[in-house]
Amino acid sequence: MKTKIINIEVLDESTLADLEAVASLIRSGGTVVFPTETVYGLGADALNPQAIKKIFAAKGRPDDNPLIVHVASLDDVKPLVANIPEQAKKLMQVFWPGPLTIIMEKAASIPTEVTGGLNTVGVRLPDHPIAQAFIKMAGCPIAAPSANRSGRPSPTQGKHVLEDLDGRVDGMILSADTELGLESTVIDMTVEPPVVLRPGDITLAELREILGEVAVSANVTENVVPEKISSPGMKYTHYSPKGELVVVKGSPEEIRDKINRALSHHKGKAMTIGVLASDETMGFYREGLIISLGSRNDPKEMAKNLFSRLRTFDELGVEKIFAEDIPLNNETLALINRLYKAAGYAFI
Ligand code: TXA
Ligand code: MG
Repeated sequence: MKTKIINIEVLDESTLADLEAVASLIRSGGTVVFPTETVYGLGADALNPQAIKKIFAAKGRPDDNPLIVHVASLDDVKPLVANIPEQAKKLMQVFWPGPLTIIMEKAASIPTEVTGGLNTVGVRLPDHPIAQAFIKMAGCPIAAPSANRSGRPSPTQGKHVLEDLDGRVDGMILSADTELGLESTVIDMTVEPPVVLRPGDITLAELREILGEVAVSANVTENVVPEKISSPGMKYTHYSPKGELVVVKGSPEEIRDKINRALSHHKGKAMTIGVLASDETMGFYREGLIISLGSRNDPKEMAKNLFSRLRTFDELGVEKIFAEDIPLNNETLALINRLYKAAGYAFI
C-alpha cells in the first residue's frame, strides 16, 4: 500500500489541513503513525475491530498482546472503562497528560481485539500537542502500540518509523524526535496493591508518593514470566537490535576489563564488534565501534538515546554488542528494563 506521509513540526493553520487528511484515514478504518512524548505510536480506531486487526498485521504482532487506548481528554476515559477507581483518578489528575498508562476494568464497548482477550484496558492521555490534536480530530479513542515492527526497538525518530512501516500503514505523521525515548509506565489499578507492569518516565517513587504501596512485577528486571500473565507483552522478545547484544555486569573496573578482554579476543576476526558505553567510559576501549548512550549523570538522556543507539549499531552492521550495565536506582529502572530485554537477559 502507499503510505500517506505528512511532516509536522509545529501545529498551525497550515498544518491543520494535513492533520485532518490523516485523521480522516482513522475514521475510515485505516492505520496512522503519530508522535507522542514517549515513542511513535501506530494508531487505529479503538472501537473498530477490523481497523485493530490492521495494526497487528502491520507490526507482525502476536494477537494476544493488548494495545493501549489513547484519549485526548479526561472526559474520554469514562466510556472506555467499567469504572474509574478513586486511586486511578488521582493518578490522572497528577500525571496526565503524560507517560502513564493506567489499566482498569474495560467497558463492554472495547473490542476484545484491543485487549488481547483480557477484561481490562490500558488507557493513556499523551502529553504531545500533535497527538492530542490528532486524537481529537479523529473523533474516537485511538488504540496504539509503539510504531515498530514487532521485536524491534521502539521508534523515537521519523526515520525509524519509515524503516519499519513505510508501505505497511495508511498514514504517517512525522515530527521531531520523541522527547522521552522510552514507552510509558504501565500500572495495573485493578489489583491491590497496584502493580507496575512496565517502568517508564513516571517513576516508582513518584507513584508511591500518590498511592502509598505499589508493587513491581518481577519481570521488570528478571527473566521470569509470572504464572498468571497480567501483561502478555512480558513473554515476548523486545527491542532487539539485529546484532547479538550482551550486558556486561560487575564493578566499573570489572566491566571495563571484561569488555576489553572480549574485544581483544575478537580482534582479527571478521565479526564487527560494538560497545554501548557512556560519555564517561567511552575512552576505556581501544577496539570496535564505541557508541555512547550519554552521560552517566543524566539517566533521562540515556533513556532518550537507547533505542536509536541500538538501531545505529544495526545500520553499521555490528554483529556483537557489549553493553555496560547501568547502576540500578529509581531513575534508571526503565532504562535497565529495556536494556535487559533488548539483550534477551544475556549477561557476562
Ligand atoms: O508510551 C507508550 O506506551 C507507547 C505510546 C505509543 O503510547 N505505546 C506502547 O505500546 O508502548 P505497546 O503496545 O508497545 O506496549 C504496551 C504494553 C504491552 O507490554 C502490553 O502487554 C501492555 O502495555 N498492556 C496493554 N494493555 C494491557 C492490559 N489491559 N493489561 C496488561 N498489560 C497491558
Ligand atoms: Mg512496543
